[in-house]
Amino acid sequence: MAEALRVGIAGLGTVGASVARVLRDKAAELTRQCGREVVVTAVSARDPKRDRGVDLGAAKWFDDPVRMAQTAEIDVFVELIGGDEGPPHSSVKAALEAGRHVVTANKALLAKHGVALAETAEKKGVLLNYEAAVAGGIPVIKTMREAMAGNSVTRVFGILNGTCNYILTRMEAEGLSFDDCLKDAQRLGYAEADPTFDIEGHDTAHKLSILTSLAFGTRIAANDIYMEGISNISQADIRAAGDLGYRIKLLGVAQRTESGIEQRVHPTMVPTASVIAQVHGVTNAVAIETDILGELLLSGPGAGGNATASAVVGDIADIAKSRPGFQHGPVFGLPAKELRPYKKAQMRSHAGGYFIRLTVHDRIGVFAAIAKRMADNEISLESIVQHAAGPDTALQKTVILVTHETTEAAVRKAVDGITRDDHLTDKPQVIRIERAE
Ligand SMILES: NC(=O)c1ccc[n+]([C@@H]2O[C@H](COP(=O)([O-])OP(=O)(O)OC[C@H]3O[C@@H](n4cnc5c(N)ncnc54)[C@H](OP(=O)(O)O)[C@@H]3O)[C@@H](O)[C@H]2O)c1
Repeated sequence: MAEALRVGIAGLGTVGASVARVLRDKAAELTRQCGREVVVTAVSARDPKRDRGVDLGAAKWFDDPVRMAQTAEIDVFVELIGGDEGPPHSSVKAALEAGRHVVTANKALLAKHGVALAETAEKKGVLLNYEAAVAGGIPVIKTMREAMAGNSVTRVFGILNGTCNYILTRMEAEGLSFDDCLKDAQRLGYAEADPTFDIEGHDTAHKLSILTSLAFGTRIAANDIYMEGISNISQADIRAAGDLGYRIKLLGVAQRTESGIEQRVHPTMVPTASVIAQVHGVTNAVAIETDILGELLLSGPGAGGNATASAVVGDIADIAKSRPGFQHGPVFGLPAKELRPYKKAQMRSHAGGYFIRLTVHDRIGVFAAIAKRMADNEISLESIVQHAAGPDTALQKTVILVTHETTEAAVRKAVDGITRDDHLTDKPQVIRIERAE
């Protein structure tokens, strides 16, 4: 049997401790599958005394993950610290430069430094595996990188943040407010004490930037993503969406258009009957549309110790199965040097349907003025509905418009015009509608 694969794990929190546990509990299966043992020989975290719920006594402790990355006592450096600068970055870089394979679950790191790290990995002839960085346990990286050769991707989109999907699911199912659902998510450990990163879309954007690179062969451009979070989604939106046959999801969408590639993260209305609309709670899903395959939807657990460890262990097993001298495939599907610069499609040229909810003064001429603004901007309407804004608001009306395909620029101009007309009593709400099977 080949020599054991020696693994060093940096970060022994939710994911790191689970990885150590799975490697111990599944040692026999892994040895059979990989044709060699996989052994944890080194670990690093901040607190050497903390009980990790798994016996790591046989592994050498390192206070400094960079030193662990450089030690000759490991073959694979597994980075599970998190964050895009400091020790996680310097240790991954050091490991690659020292010719160690790397496995990471760190989307923030890849969104910022992924291409440079891929160049180093490819130069050194080692693997940089990151299945757990996007949609946790769902094998989307492997699918896009390995199983779709020859396919041209036209669009990739998904529910990439379990916290947001949990909040939106409960808002719809139980009629609760955004704030109440967020508090519950925090109590249950689905949301951080500071939830901004999740609910304002940054986490989804990091993951989307990686998918975009894989889908379109472009350099990662995480700073070029249009982003809106879910904090201003109200019960009025959820109910109106339901009445119209839609469900609201926070989607990350990357799409090829005539003017470039769109990357956008925003609350989105998807048809209630579509497959992605059936993805509830903390579950994640990724839809990939290609010219040959059509549409593929992968769904499953996007976070949590075990689910994420499953992806990390899969990446480690791939390294265990690879043989010395074997030429590894490129990190982002194409050699890093061949990734093209990202050509951004301007958000104002985005084409699609729109849901617009307006709260207006209940007076003569308002409805006609709104319709005129739409017509002036060549927006054709699928429906326009007016009803009382609520039991205590006799002087206000809600107007809900659903447009046929139009552009972002036209919708913004029309809504700005309506706002200037001074008929609104509240901020207008605009939610994009996404085509989904
Ligand atoms: N949690 C999930 O469900 C999930 C899902 C997908 C991807 N991920 C990604 O997985 C990574 C880890 O997430 P996590 O949830 O496991 O985080 P976590 O529970 O906060 O664990 C972080 C670990 O890193 C250690 N650490 C912090 N600074 C360090 C340093 N300078 N040197 C060495 N170790 C250091 C901590 O040590 P101490 O324990 O001693 O403080 C802790 O063990 C992140 O990139 C995250 O985005 C997580």
